[in-house]
Amino acid sequence: MTQSAFRAQLLTFNGDPAQSSHAAAFSEDGLLIVEDGHVVAAGAYAALSSQLAPGTHVEEMRDKLIVPGFIDTHIHYPQTDMIASPAPGLLPWLDTYTFPTERGFKDPAVAADTANFFVDELLACGTTTALVYCTVHKESADALFTASEARNLRTVAGKVLMDRNCPEFLRDTAQSGYEDSAELIGRWHNRGRQMYALTPRFAPTSTEAQLEACGVLAREHPDVFIQSHVAENTDEVKWVASLFPGHRSYLDIYDHYGLLRRRAVYGHCIYLDDEDRRRMAETGTVASHCPTSNLFLGSGLFDFDKAGETGMPVALATDVGGGTSFSMLQTMNEAHKVARLTGHHLTATRMFWLATAGAAEALDLADKVGTLAPKSEADFVVLDPQATPLLARRTSRTNTLEELLFAFALLGDDRAIFETYAAGQRVHRRDAARGGDRSGNETRKAA
Ligand code: GUN
Ligand code: ZN
Repeated sequence: MTQSAFRAQLLTFNGDPAQSSHAAAFSEDGLLIVEDGHVVAAGAYAALSSQLAPGTHVEEMRDKLIVPGFIDTHIHYPQTDMIASPAPGLLPWLDTYTFPTERGFKDPAVAADTANFFVDELLACGTTTALVYCTVHKESADALFTASEARNLRTVAGKVLMDRNCPEFLRDTAQSGYEDSAELIGRWHNRGRQMYALTPRFAPTSTEAQLEACGVLAREHPDVFIQSHVAENTDEVKWVASLFPGHRSYLDIYDHYGLLRRRAVYGHCIYLDDEDRRRMAETGTVASHCPTSNLFLGSGLFDFDKAGETGMPVALATDVGGGTSFSMLQTMNEAHKVARLTGHHLTATRMFWLATAGAAEALDLADKVGTLAPKSEADFVVLDPQATPLLARRTSRTNTLEELLFAFALLGDDRAIFETYAAGQRVHRRDAARGGDRSGNETRKAA
């Protein structure tokens, strides 16, 4: 297999920037060498150029910055076409827009069309791995995995489990949800780069029998992911307390059914107490912070200080369509502001870590994605500091890496993504996207 190589500014991580001042590894004149879908080496050009195989073409991008592909830890693909739908809070938004929209995904043609657009939109934003909610229909999960597999992306996704407190047309049962999930795990989990997530939507839309069945599936499949929502909105929290009166807290319901563990990821985590946070830390359960969604739906402010004090693992997410942007850069923008409102200074360096290596570590995927370490899967993004006239003016005046990353986080969006690579193959090129085929290749490369 031939090598490919990229000479650019390079950023990768070997730890949490909040814990170590050496966690960010930056090369002003860097070289990334890729072979067979994996990273061979990444670091200073002067140190690595001798490792280039004879005849390897080096792509010159010295005015660009290469970072690991972004990881979005919570997003709903069926909500793509209803993004930016106005509602006075979470529960009316679910009833008015979300449930009627999700009905359409029984139709495999609707699911496939949306899944293909969705995956290309993620790539246009530099997101190479996402944890994705499908709908209750197993066809919706097949469509998403098919779109992901065609582009050879590492995707984690699952069919929603939901057997009460939703319209009849979106209901499964404890038994059918169990069987459909087991079938999808058999078909997709660890097939190429695809991985399955058990996906009970949230406690209010599952009976105790369904949560029990989900716990059984979790025990039967210890390496699948689990994803759900918790403690997002005050009305939701009150509703949950009335539906499950015997529990110490909302999080305790999931704990009771064996749904807290490594590779379990809960969206929002706003109205937790410290006992909940410690329980998440103890079990390795991840809090997925969704700032654009929390601001848009008026849900509340995630507390970074309390997360840090208790050791609860945290990652970032868009939560489209409650979230208002597919871009992890825009997500960082709003994460920074949410943190500011709680008195916490969230650096851009740490936000880039949270969206790459930090997410991969939290998700137990650090041996696969999230860095440019040798043997990692070669998922990376080429960022363009000159993407817009304003970004060009600002980045030409930045003096530190933190200032450069801060400019990308606060001013950047899909326009700042010059190219996106998955497993060493280019899967998005900004300038080609404006004209048609978003990969910039003549034909889409199949897995
Ligand atoms: N809680 C239950 N379902 C959803 C959803 O689709 N979006 C958000 N933001 N919260 C939820
Ligand atoms: Zn969500």
